Amino acid sequence: MIKLIKSTFHNETQTKKELQTFIKNAEILSFGPQCQQFESKFAKWQGKKHCIFLNSGSSANLAIIQALLNIGKIKHNDYVGFSALTWSTNVMPLIELGLKAVPIDVELDTLNVSSSQLKKILKKYPLKMLFITNLLGFCDDLDEIRKICNEQKIILIEDNCESLGSKYKGEKLGNFGLASSFSFYVGHHMSTIEGGAVCTDSEQLASMLRIVRAHGWDRNLSEKRQVKLRNKHKVNSTFYSRYTFYDLGYNLRPTEINGFIGNTQIQYLDEIIQKRKSNFFKMAPPIYKQTDKYYSVRYDHLDLLSNFAVPVICKSTKIRDELVAKCVGKVEIRPIVGGDMTLQPFFQKHLKSRILKNSNAKIIHTQGLYFGNNPELTDKEVNEIISIFTQ
Ligand SMILES: Cc1ncc(COP(=O)(O)O)c(C=O)c1O
Repeated sequence: MIKLIKSTFHNETQTKKELQTFIKNAEILSFGPQCQQFESKFAKWQGKKHCIFLNSGSSANLAIIQALLNIGKIKHNDYVGFSALTWSTNVMPLIELGLKAVPIDVELDTLNVSSSQLKKILKKYPLKMLFITNLLGFCDDLDEIRKICNEQKIILIEDNCESLGSKYKGEKLGNFGLASSFSFYVGHHMSTIEGGAVCTDSEQLASMLRIVRAHGWDRNLSEKRQVKLRNKHKVNSTFYSRYTFYDLGYNLRPTEINGFIGNTQIQYLDEIIQKRKSNFFKMAPPIYKQTDKYYSVRYDHLDLLSNFAVPVICKSTKIRDELVAKCVGKVEIRPIVGGDMTLQPFFQKHLKSRILKNSNAKIIHTQGLYFGNNPELTDKEVNEIISIFTQ
């Protein structure tokens, strides 16, 4: 069986050995210097001023929405667009925090929201924010989307949990909007077991994200920011300053174990991305060439394609079901991410009136599947996958 994920870490034996030694000698294991070091390294790698490390990609999404509400960039009942094809915890915080979530259909050939899909939605809804998902390493015309958002003063946030490392028009995905989220869950590009991050150039947003991440207090803020907050709220005793809660927050902190792993894994990140890219270019072109059976997926507009799974969208449910049967016991497969979110029970319970009809997201949901693209795939496995999908 060719598994979706082969191991928890890159260079697993060595990483586990180093982790054992770290745990044995560490003085603290709750959030501390390892996490902070990882934040600096990841911000530098992504090319952003700030990185806020959290305990999952889902927490990163939740923290972004809460932080934007706290600083007043968005308000309850504002319309927020999201990619109909995404993961549950991209949409859920919008509903949980009282925003009006508006699904935007994706293009069949890129699996992503395009500027033309966005324009269609803007005729109906005055969006205050677009929480776009860069699905499976791909994107559509993000530069045009950014232009529309800038012109119409729509806050653009990218859920980049599935596209770490992909590049479009010379820019890394995740760097097109005000902020972006990342996931370091096992099986994603880089693993800290569980983990996530937000990257942004905005100091105001970064500080609020640090407040949101830990109880609403100011402990992880710069001294300058702490002084400003404490003066504003007339907190002038050290006794109380550590236990003053300035705004709405949660506890979404990662541990030093996640931080340590992040610091070891980030050394391999470029290598991991190159390996997955090379696997993709061996497997996808011969499979996508089967145009009688599959819709082709377009990726030639990307400078660098970095994904952890290869999507296949069949031209009918019958073809998809036959493919699923062929994979049994041979290749581990799954639906495309979370599928069309508007078909999920949670969405139908809360937002029945916004269910999409005749959408591309629905075709991808009902006729698609993906198999894993992990850096440890052997040539034999790559050839076996090609053979199954081109039979
Ligand atoms: C697009 C997207 N956003 C968010 C998440 C959540 O990430 P995590 O599993 O780290 O909570 C995922 C998870 O796979 C995802 O695919």
